[in-house]
Amino acid sequence: MSRTFETVGVVGLGTMGAGIAEVFARAGLAVVGVEVDAQALERGRGHVLRSTDRAVSRGRLSEAGRDEILGRIAFTGSLDDLRDADLVIEAIPEVMEYKRALFTDLDLVCKPEAVLATNTSSLSVTAIASFTARPGQVVGMHFFNPAPVMRLVEVVRTVATAGGVAEDVAELARRVGKTPVTVGDRAGFVVNRLLLGYLNHAASLLELGVASRDDIDAAMRLGAGLPMGPFALLDLIGLDVSHEVCEVLFEESRDRVHAPAPILRELVTAGLLGRKSGRGFHAHEGASEAEAA
Ligand code: 3HC
Repeated sequence: MSRTFETVGVVGLGTMGAGIAEVFARAGLAVVGVEVDAQALERGRGHVLRSTDRAVSRGRLSEAGRDEILGRIAFTGSLDDLRDADLVIEAIPEVMEYKRALFTDLDLVCKPEAVLATNTSSLSVTAIASFTARPGQVVGMHFFNPAPVMRLVEVVRTVATAGGVAEDVAELARRVGKTPVTVGDRAGFVVNRLLLGYLNHAASLLELGVASRDDIDAAMRLGAGLPMGPFALLDLIGLDVSHEVCEVLFEESRDRVHAPAPILRELVTAGLLGRKSGRGFHAHEGASEAEAA
């Protein structure tokens, strides 16, 4: 019998976690949004507020609809509030030691039948599953930025995932309006493996002086029909995340296309992380700390 997911936990309310919480709440699920740090919790709440307010101002959502969505999300600083969740999705920074600590705790707090999912874009889901006593119920559930808009979810099945779990999570993705694809646990899965090679290559072209930043962006928008040029997209994803994904991909593939372009590393070292820090390849007027992941 397949599982039903009515209450979903989201741990980490940065750009991705807040977007994911909004996706579940919009679909009518009860959401428990957890951030252990009080300031980060407020930023996460602010993120959902701004996103739903924008939908109201565009006439896509009524004020009552927005209030209902917000009313479905319980913002909390305590992991203990996840004890009744049917599925918990983790969206904390991409540091394996943080994941180990969190999944060890989640395994203790969550009910035995709960599914534990990670939104990791670069780390091994198999390794994350091994931190728990329930590796059969651990999957990747990889959303794309901005989560409320992008229609794909990569459901990552590991060698340890029990039969039916990935299928049930894929069904949940459909229920919240996304299209799932099921992928194996290989660095970058499908989208990042293909996308980051391209984005990193764009940074190399810029360094080689082949064309300017704006001309490369315009070329790919107008010549390849993409919604954003590579530098606008790198800034949206976050240069820290992009750099990290490239490093992991290079480690696994040894393909030069993934060797992080030096300019990417330099910008990250300088704290110029893209939209979330106000500046990356582009300057972002009005972007603020509040958008920080
Ligand atoms: N949060 C919520 N909604 C947002 C949003 C955000 N951050 N940004 C835009 N939107 C909504 C707008 O409200 C608007 O909604 P509406 O149609 O209901 O009014 C809709 O998206 C379109 O927005 P805009 O008109 O402002 O702008 P665009 O038409 O240029 O679309 C975009 C913006 C959706 C970001 C589009 O440029 C796009 O699809 N870009 C590519 C994004 C992409 O490739 N993401 C994947 C990155 S890889 C990744 O995330 C994986 C990770 O692991 C690295």
